[in-house]
Amino acid sequence: MLSPRHRLAFALDYPSLREARRTAEKVRDHVGVLKVGLELFTREGPKAVALGSELGSDIFLDLKLCDIPETVERAVAAAGELGVRFLTLHASGGRRMLERAARRVDRDKSEVTLLAVTVLTSLDEEDLAAIGIGSSAEEQALRLARLAWEAGIPGIVCSPMEARSMRQAVHTKLYLVTPGIRAPGSPAYDQKRTATASEAVSAGADLLVVGRAIRDAADPAAAAWQISREIESALSSAEADERRS
Ligand code: C5P
Repeated sequence: MLSPRHRLAFALDYPSLREARRTAEKVRDHVGVLKVGLELFTREGPKAVALGSELGSDIFLDLKLCDIPETVERAVAAAGELGVRFLTLHASGGRRMLERAARRVDRDKSEVTLLAVTVLTSLDEEDLAAIGIGSSAEEQALRLARLAWEAGIPGIVCSPMEARSMRQAVHTKLYLVTPGIRAPGSPAYDQKRTATASEAVSAGADLLVVGRAIRDAADPAAAAWQISREIESALSSAEADERRS
């Protein structure tokens, strides 16, 4: 069973390494995974990944790759050489792209766990309809998750609202990563399919991605601690339920 610390990823959505490091240092006791996304990687490149070894954290490189199979395969190889623990790619890039990425990880014996992004938590059914997808967000996310799993991708990124059905419908071993985590009553910002940390863990999420709720808190360390407590207590309840059943 992973500790609460290893179940919490902090999104380093900062314009500079200096600012990212400042908060990452404050929250390191409660956060085991640092997520380097598009903003920080575009500005700082592999130096941002090196923060992981500096602070004793795993790095989640959130590049959400989506391109022709050859290009994605080569990017997967490059990320593997950087020593990242998680790397995202879009499931909507299709079966061949996903298979090539998964095969490259195997061939390189890389430590990277690939995570396929299903339907972004910022999208709702109206947004999906506008890009020609007639099914519900959940149906579409399930379809993409199945495709990714069958192509050899071990984990997916989905809304916490869909985590339970993912595990039931796709595979019990699917590694589930859920962004869109909000404290009860706090603003959703641009996210639409959100849940609390406790609801995400109860639904079976393995790793929770939290950005603004930590980054913008008056006391980021206290905010991270609060979320890790919530994860811990949801894990204890889930274990107790399992023992009873
Ligand atoms: O917690 P907050 O909403 O600030 O988290 C935003 C972070 O989560 C961003 O880094 C964004 O890239 C990431 N995210 C994601 N997949 C989604 C939604 C958000 O990786 N479906």
